[in-house]
Amino acid sequence: MEIIGKKKLKGEIKVPGDKSISHRAVIFGSISKGETTVENALLSEDIISTIKCFREMGVKILINEEEDKLRIIGNGLYGLKKPSRPLDCGNSGTTMRLLSGLLAGQDFESTLIGDESLSKRPMDRIINPLRKMNGNIAGADDKYPPINIYPSKGLQGIDYTLPMASAQVKSAILLASLYANGETKVEEKKITRDHTERMMEYFSEDDFIGKNIYVPGDISSAAFWMVGASIMKGSSIVLKDVGVNPTRTGIIDVLKSMGGNIEVKNIRNINKEPVGDIYISYSPLRGIELDPSIMGRLVDEIPVIAVGAMFAQGTTIIRGAGELKYKETDRIQAIVTELKKLGGNIEALEDGLIIKGTDALHPGVLESYDDHRIAMALSIGALNIEGKSKVTNTKCINISYPKFYESLWEIVE
Ligand code: S3P
Repeated sequence: MEIIGKKKLKGEIKVPGDKSISHRAVIFGSISKGETTVENALLSEDIISTIKCFREMGVKILINEEEDKLRIIGNGLYGLKKPSRPLDCGNSGTTMRLLSGLLAGQDFESTLIGDESLSKRPMDRIINPLRKMNGNIAGADDKYPPINIYPSKGLQGIDYTLPMASAQVKSAILLASLYANGETKVEEKKITRDHTERMMEYFSEDDFIGKNIYVPGDISSAAFWMVGASIMKGSSIVLKDVGVNPTRTGIIDVLKSMGGNIEVKNIRNINKEPVGDIYISYSPLRGIELDPSIMGRLVDEIPVIAVGAMFAQGTTIIRGAGELKYKETDRIQAIVTELKKLGGNIEALEDGLIIKGTDALHPGVLESYDDHRIAMALSIGALNIEGKSKVTNTKCINISYPKFYESLWEIVE
């Protein structure tokens, strides 16, 4: 994709539905009895992977692409069918990890596979606790996909402290706990997104009968516009109906500490998730040191925060972000290599980044590493640099934000 800077962002956009909540809506709808409707669902490649997995297990899921709606005719907690072939999770870590927890409790055998990137991502983090619950689960070298799951002689609840900040691991355990004897308790040292807990509570209220769900806009998608409007002189935008769950709003806190001009208005609750409208306009940013305890609340936003820091006055230090190495690509390496191509003053740490703001930036030809968030973060950076840049391999954006460039062309001036 060719990008010509320097630009500003003006107007109002609705970002697509939240990826994490959309996955969970498909999962809980599938294991509830009767009809669940999902409005403003994200219909990106990752969610389609989850939908296809449940279809393979006998769940009827109807997609209305025009209206971003889903109708799920759930089979109930004990109604999933043995899939006749391996369940393909594509590029989606959330699909593989959450489904592993759910499948550990089923009385049939299943296999989970993924694409090249997912096949390299660590799965011991879910295999270990699920085995402690008496799950009969194995991976390649006990660490990587494919994951093979066999019926257990009976899952047991556990008391588990997460060794890393991961909502996917937490959620896998919570989903397995639906089929386990006794109580399960998961403790986390760093806060991570709690969408599974909220949705589980929502569905439990009526004993897992189908529900109506409205998916709020994805704050991780909104983050690209938040940083974009903060760094591009003359920008002023409104992002409507964005999820502002406090376990996800680290990006707002960080931008505010950097001097960003951001306000959240009209906050209301929709099926146990807070939703609001976000107003952002240009404001010169200054570098800060991020508190490592915030990482679980903004882990997916680090690439675009690094982009923002490149245009800030002073130094930004990010530590406690070692998890970035295990995402769709090693995001520490990717962002350092690519921002340097733009003249960025950025250095990799073992568990983070140091970025010094600079005026000496220039256009470049950049690589996405087939990682959707890297592709979008680089596009935002290039938009604020005079001249013509190129971001290659941007098809991966379909993983989480298929209409990213369409929205961009709508609000760019
Ligand atoms: C997610 C959790 C996070 C996040 C991912 C979605 C989820 O992963 O990076 O994009 O939906 O639970 P980790 O659990 O690996 O931190």
